[in-house]
Amino acid sequence: MDINYKKFKVIVREGYESICAVVAEIIAGQIATQPDSVLGLATGSTPLGVYKKLVGTDFSRVTCFNLDEYHPIERTNHQSYHYFMMQNLFNRVNINPDNINIPSGEAVDFAAECDAYEEKIAASGGIDLQLLGIGPCGHVGFNEPAAIFPKQTHYVALDSSTIEANSRFFESTDKVPKHAITMGVGTIFSARHILLMATGSHKADIVEKVVLGDIDPQVSGSILQLHPNVTLAMDAAAAVKLLQSL
Ligand code: F6R
Repeated sequence: MDINYKKFKVIVREGYESICAVVAEIIAGQIATQPDSVLGLATGSTPLGVYKKLVGTDFSRVTCFNLDEYHPIERTNHQSYHYFMMQNLFNRVNINPDNINIPSGEAVDFAAECDAYEEKIAASGGIDLQLLGIGPCGHVGFNEPAAIFPKQTHYVALDSSTIEANSRFFESTDKVPKHAITMGVGTIFSARHILLMATGSHKADIVEKVVLGDIDPQVSGSILQLHPNVTLAMDAAAAVKLLQSL
């Protein structure tokens, strides 16, 4: 099912595999029409099936910027987003390693790391297509509930709901890093096309809130209501509440 709602192009497919296939096709299509595309990428459970389907796509001229990384964390740590991206995508496609960009969880000078990341995105010409997941608090990237929308890449204390949700990857909740470096809401908003993905029944409430709720920095994904070019890709379980309310 494909519908337009306000500025959102909403795509719903029955199950996880079928929505991953659609999202992978959109990304592969972007690369086919513009081989030197700049992609913004996400980690987490949601895009795993998409990355699997992108194996075989020609990444030779593509540049990637990841949304975020825990801090502190060594890049070799199996829970780092650096490790996740290498395992699940970058080691499996022909991307030039010089074109892989992920905030450093090893940075000592956070402010300098954040500024350099912003500058590098700008120097690349900006992000053509930004893939996003959505967190339990409605965050995009690690833009946690806040009083204002953070503009640029910044160092952030993770929300307790994020730590709780991500503890599934760690031995215990107290092993989850308490901080991260993340693109800002402004950084994300500057992408020319946003591809927001949500799968599973546990995302149904937050999807409805992000799309239909107030535009509120407590729910950073709500800013996407103002973006001119957002594709919202969901499986039926994540879409159920939103579709009932439209
Ligand atoms: C990941 C990121 C996060 C996740 C979100 C959903 O790089 O920035 O915003 O997209 O927390 O995570 P999953 O997909 O694991 O439910």
